[in-house]
Amino acid sequence: MSIEKVGVLGCGLMGSGIAQVCAQAGLKTMVKEIDQKFIDKGFGVINKNLQRAADKGKITGEKKDEILSNLKGTLEFEDLKDCDLIIEAVPELLDVKNGMYSTLAGICPEKTIFASNTSSLTVVAMAAATGRPDRLCGMHFFNPVPMMRLVEVVKTIATSQETIDSCFEFCRKIGKSPILAKDRSGFIVNRLLIPYMLDAITVLEEGLASTEDIDKGIMLGLNHPMGPLTLADFVGLDTFIEVCDIMFNEFHEKRFSAPPLLKKMVLAGYYGRKSGKGFYDYSGEKPVPTDLGI
Ligand code: CAA
Repeated sequence: MSIEKVGVLGCGLMGSGIAQVCAQAGLKTMVKEIDQKFIDKGFGVINKNLQRAADKGKITGEKKDEILSNLKGTLEFEDLKDCDLIIEAVPELLDVKNGMYSTLAGICPEKTIFASNTSSLTVVAMAAATGRPDRLCGMHFFNPVPMMRLVEVVKTIATSQETIDSCFEFCRKIGKSPILAKDRSGFIVNRLLIPYMLDAITVLEEGLASTEDIDKGIMLGLNHPMGPLTLADFVGLDTFIEVCDIMFNEFHEKRFSAPPLLKKMVLAGYYGRKSGKGFYDYSGEKPVPTDLGI
């Protein structure tokens, strides 16, 4: 099935990024939120991203307006009724996600595909609520969505091959490279990324290296664009610990267990860039390592 009209649930960091890339690809995109203020905030970020691209001469002013005209925000599920694909990007709370899928199941036609942007929950746990387990899959994007090329497309035991084919075609249409992942918590990338980032925190906690040297080691030694502690601040330590906890509860393996330092930082409200302080302090002109008493 060719996807022409897209619905996005949630206009936060991920939802707004997903909406932006869909609109950029010329697709009519309807974003559903629970409060107008979240739509205004998310659309504000999109507008800023497009303005930056226009200022750099990467797109024309007309192109920017054309992209924005593809985007609409709504507070009503009803407005998603004629979408070919609905991508859900709401917080990692299964009950909340399933409540939305149940509502949409009664509104959307049979053909509508549902895709969850969950990064760590098992997708099949949402299957029953959708009333169409064969047309549900995972579609895991990476932050910042407009820049990151990958999408993990997740096939549950109930997802049809036709759904996967349509989602692969859709990902390519919006300029992303899809890979196929099995429905195990963390899929492919987080399964590898989470233990690596947790190890970096343990190295810091054990006093084996400084915050800056850990990041520098990975950036200069492995050519990563960001070191693991900068990346943790970028993802958000509250989001990061949530992913670790979900994976730990799924696998009961120590490599997914959050070290005490991470727990303490989240309790202290050190969420990373979004709160102004994490492994680095962002209050000055340049980020500087936070004194974590190590
Ligand atoms: N949104 C949109 N565009 C952004 C952006 C943002 N938040 N931040 C930067 N950009 C764009 C800039 O506009 C610029 O675009 P152009 O090249 O078109 O001019 C480009 O990115 C480069 O920006 P900068 O020069 O300012 O910075 P940079 O070279 O350091 O790149 C970065 C920024 C793309 C974020 C890069 O540092 C990077 O790739 N970091 C790693 C990100 C990563 O690993 N993400 C995965 C997180 S894990 C995840 O998402 C999964 C999960 O489930 C937890």
